[in-house]
This record gives sequence, C-alpha cells and structure tokens, in this order.
Amino acid sequence: MAINESAILKSELRWAMIVGGIVAIILIAILYAAIAMHVNPPSNREYVDPKTLHLSAEFTEANLGTRVDPDGHIVARVIATQFEFVPNCFVLPANRDVTIRLTSPDVIHGILVTGTNVNTMVVPGYVAQVHTMFTKTGDLLMPCHEFCGLGHSQMLATVRVVPPGQFHPGPDGRIACGDRR
Ligand code: CUA
Repeated sequence: MAINESAILKSELRWAMIVGGIVAIILIAILYAAIAMHVNPPSNREYVDPKTLHLSAEFTEANLGTRVDPDGHIVARVIATQFEFVPNCFVLPANRDVTIRLTSPDVIHGILVTGTNVNTMVVPGYVAQVHTMFTKTGDLLMPCHEFCGLGHSQMLATVRVVPPGQFHPGPDGRIACGDRR
C-alpha cells in the first residue's frame, strides 16, 4: 500500500483543528467586540406606531432633520417612505458623535451612506438608530438599499457633512441643508 492511512488521518485532524481554531478566534473576536467594546449591529429595539408617525411624537414633520438636543447630542431624524426620504438632505458635522434615527410608515427600506460604514435596515414599527462619526466632509449619497417598490431606484438622500466650524444650528438647535452658513 502506497498510501499511509494514518498519515492521511493525521493530516485531516490537523486541518480540522486549524479550521476549528480559526472559527474559535472569530467567535471570540465577535464576543469581545460586543461585550468589551460595545460594537453591536446598528439597530436598536425601539417600537413606534407607523400609522401615527406624522401625527404625534418624535417623527412629526416639524421634528425631522438635524437638531442639537439641549444635552448636546446631535440627532438627525429621517423618515424613509415610498419613494423618498424626508428630509431628502440633512446636515451633520464631521468629527463629532452623531446619531441618525430613521423609521418607515410603509414598507421595509434600508440605508447606507456611501464611503462610510453607516448601513441599516429601516423597518416599519421600529426605530433604526445609528451612532457614527463622519471623518470626511462633503455631500454623501444615502440611497435606499432595500427593494421597496417601483420607485426604489429613485429613492435617495444627501448627508451634508460640514466641518465642525461651519456647523451653526439656530437658536432652536436646528439646522437644515437650505440654511445659509
Ligand atoms: Cu426604499 Cu428601496
């Protein structure tokens, strides 16, 4: 017999252990990122009634867009709906912690901000929340990335990332793309 069966078995066992070790390392890295560094999937579990979004609470029209809350948090609130974002442009400063909160009154949408790792689903009934910090300034494209109907390919918004020195919210804490800076 030319082939040594025990050598084959040894080789197979060795590779099984190497693969098992790689899987274990990846699992440990995921758990470490989640538990020690608090790096988790971008969505949180927060319910909102999609039937009354426009009538009361956080996502009424007057509340949409970017606002600096009294405690200093910078939050952009956006509704993703067939087939547009409201507002379709919002301003955020670079190099600052910012929060984007989105929800949908109709079907499942999804967003990503090009050139960044911002990426989340927007599911009716839930608030999708992303904490991030933009490092580059400019107009970043934010398309819908979940097929939501015939107008899906036309559904996009702009994230206008400005230098912190040009981020001047009004006395009410609000700032919009149309504002003069
Ligand atoms: Cu909204 Cu695709």
